[in-house]
Amino acid sequence: MKIIGTGSYYPEYILTNKRLEELVETSDEWIKERTGIQERRISQGEGSSVLAINAAKNALDNAKIQPEELDMIILSTITPECYVPNMACLVQNAIGAYNALCIEMNAACTGFVYALHTANLYLESGMVKKALVIGVERLSEMIDYTDRTTCVLFGDGAGAVIVDNSSSSCYAAKLGSDSRKMKALYCKHPSLVNYMSKDNCQRDYLYMDGQEIFKFVLRIIPRNIKELLEQTNVDVSEIKYFVLHQANKRILEAVAKKLNVPEEKFPMNLDKYGNTSSASVPVLLHEMNEKNMLAKGDKIVLSAFGGGLTWGTIIIEW
Ligand code: ACO
Repeated sequence: MKIIGTGSYYPEYILTNKRLEELVETSDEWIKERTGIQERRISQGEGSSVLAINAAKNALDNAKIQPEELDMIILSTITPECYVPNMACLVQNAIGAYNALCIEMNAACTGFVYALHTANLYLESGMVKKALVIGVERLSEMIDYTDRTTCVLFGDGAGAVIVDNSSSSCYAAKLGSDSRKMKALYCKHPSLVNYMSKDNCQRDYLYMDGQEIFKFVLRIIPRNIKELLEQTNVDVSEIKYFVLHQANKRILEAVAKKLNVPEEKFPMNLDKYGNTSSASVPVLLHEMNEKNMLAKGDKIVLSAFGGGLTWGTIIIEW
């Protein structure tokens, strides 16, 4: 598998820490110090499909291919716009990629890594030659903007990559899930009401036990990365960049320390976008691509963690 194009898209509206100070009892200083986040983008009416379609178009332009060349669209999200059809079908329709099979999946913030690995399995099977992989979230719809423990963290956005079956000397993945702590990050579907029900169930907002997630990440992610490197006989020093899910600056610094890797190898853009769940890894990858930070043959680790609880790491060669 090779990544042949990248793209991203963000809504225009910028929600700053200063604005959040007016909504909840918090401070710019607290948010920056504890998370590294300065601002995040929030959709003002654009549905998650709009974000995904724009990121997809951006990736197609970047890869210089036509939509008809795609055999597969796989999209990960926890904020789909409809029950039916799936969001990958909405993207297909908008870009005219009618030769592609369309799949939507949910593995929370790990979703993009799961989706990319699934695309690779289809490529390896020979069934697919080119795939569009999208991570998109409109998390603002599940956030309670009176809850300071979550509203300062999350933002909306979409990232996409196009992959093909041209060979690469390095590809490996290690994914996992452990539902025993699933309540540490939890949000019920908006409504359980149906025609027959008497109760009018209230909608839920996202609940997060931040410290539990923090501990889980530091227990699982460095080990997951180390085991994958060992399994593939790649030394940690051979990795050019560790592109991690952008949840918290302190998490990334702690993972770097545990792996004994300089922090400069952990690029970050969470100051501008906050935690955009499954969009964060492809968006950062696109930013790095745009800045020409990646050269042919570079080995890169993509790693993410989130609700489920789920996690996953992929090593790719650029
Ligand atoms: N502003 C000011 N004070 C706050 C805020 C806020 N926004 N939020 C919490 N506090 C207070 C708490 O109430 C607490 O006060 P107390 O000491 O009087 O009880 C104090 O700050 C410290 O709270 P902690 O929860 O201990 O703060 P911590 O340093 O753990 O930081 C944070 C919280 C940022 C949420 C951190 O735990 C974290 O990042 N965890 C990981 C979260 C994560 O990665 N989630 C996403 C993974 S899955 C996904 O991406 C969907």
